[in-house]
Amino acid sequence: MHIISCKATEIQDTRGRPTVKVELAAPGGLWAIASVPSGKSTGSHEAKELRDADGNGVSRALELLNSEVSTLICSRDFATLRELDEALLALDGTPDKSRLGSNGILAVSIAAARLFAKERGVPLWKYLAEESDSTPAAPRLFANVINGGAHADFRLPFQEYMVVCGGEGQVVEESFAALSDLYKELRDVLARECGGEVSMGDEGGYSPTFSTIEKPFEILAKLIEGKPGLSLAIDAAASELLAPGEKETYKLLDRTYSRIDLLALYANLTQAFPLASIEDPFAEDDREGFRNITAQVVCPLSPHGERVGVRGEGCLSLIVADDLTVTNPARIAAAAQEHLANAVIIKPNQIGSVTETLAAVRIARENGWKIIVSHRSDETDDTFIADLAYGLGTHGIKAGGLAQKERLEKYHRLLEIEREKEKAAQ
Ligand code: PGA
Ligand code: ZN
Repeated sequence: MHIISCKATEIQDTRGRPTVKVELAAPGGLWAIASVPSGKSTGSHEAKELRDADGNGVSRALELLNSEVSTLICSRDFATLRELDEALLALDGTPDKSRLGSNGILAVSIAAARLFAKERGVPLWKYLAEESDSTPAAPRLFANVINGGAHADFRLPFQEYMVVCGGEGQVVEESFAALSDLYKELRDVLARECGGEVSMGDEGGYSPTFSTIEKPFEILAKLIEGKPGLSLAIDAAASELLAPGEKETYKLLDRTYSRIDLLALYANLTQAFPLASIEDPFAEDDREGFRNITAQVVCPLSPHGERVGVRGEGCLSLIVADDLTVTNPARIAAAAQEHLANAVIIKPNQIGSVTETLAAVRIARENGWKIIVSHRSDETDDTFIADLAYGLGTHGIKAGGLAQKERLEKYHRLLEIEREKEKAAQ
């Protein structure tokens, strides 16, 4: 690949914060654009975004992209995306991408992936499938329909209440139709149950005030009742729930929970509701909490204490690591060796390059973990994660509620991929 220009500009994300957009050009009129999202409940082990001294602007990141990075990638040819990503990492020279910033590096890496796909004459999802030896397939939709935690001023303790639509062999057209119906129905139910106007959270889901921890589960369980193939999932984002100054004591609404209390709360919720998946049930460094809950889910008859769920019986089967593993291949390998979870969130901007994202997926797969590709709470209209999830045939994708254009774009891209795939098969 011979790149002839690299131009970085600033755009706004869904929270109105500046972020990076990169446009690459190659001979023969080839071009590609990418922009990157940002998180709010970020894991402390993530690669580092480059922000200006005010903690907000990206002018320093743009300056580096339009000088050093542009000079590097236009100065030589790259046979593969891996070569290009490795050159970017070498130019950065830090273990956490803090010099050039994970935001700038990832924007170039995603745009370059699109260029390589165009050069090969295949859609992006197919290119990613080929690069990772994957069989493309429709991911389940883990749709965050009720937003809480850091995404809604902690009026609700858990950050994300998701409905899971889709399953083995089910196409996105069907699962998205089911999700759209549920989403509309939920608005009416919430207006009735919570009174009047329902406010919105950061990820395009509803964000009303509930009086109890159980209430959103009751509403969602009722909503999916009698509709086959649907289940519930949460992202507890428990790093955000730690009591101030504590490492294994949590605060939800006005109550303090020890690690054991929190496990008991999950056990009760799992027994009362069709809760199939819990992401970040404990804080990013509470390995003991992760270990306990995973042991009980994966081996329900283990003598480690209270039983949380039984695999295959419609209750809890996935313990999903996010802040614990931050899409970092080494952290995923270590967590898998310690049996801390059985599924993982993959967010390209947590690690900062496409090549490392594919490596993270490979390690998770080798350990038998399920993979859920995810957006961030500050999003742009870039749809890379849709191609990544479909191309790699991951278990699921988190792309948010349907009230924000930037979230919808991801679902629309999944539908478009499905049409491209059908057409290619004819
Ligand atoms: P974030 O939240 O993008 O604000 O980090 C998403 C998540 O925790 O999964
Ligand atoms: Zn999360």
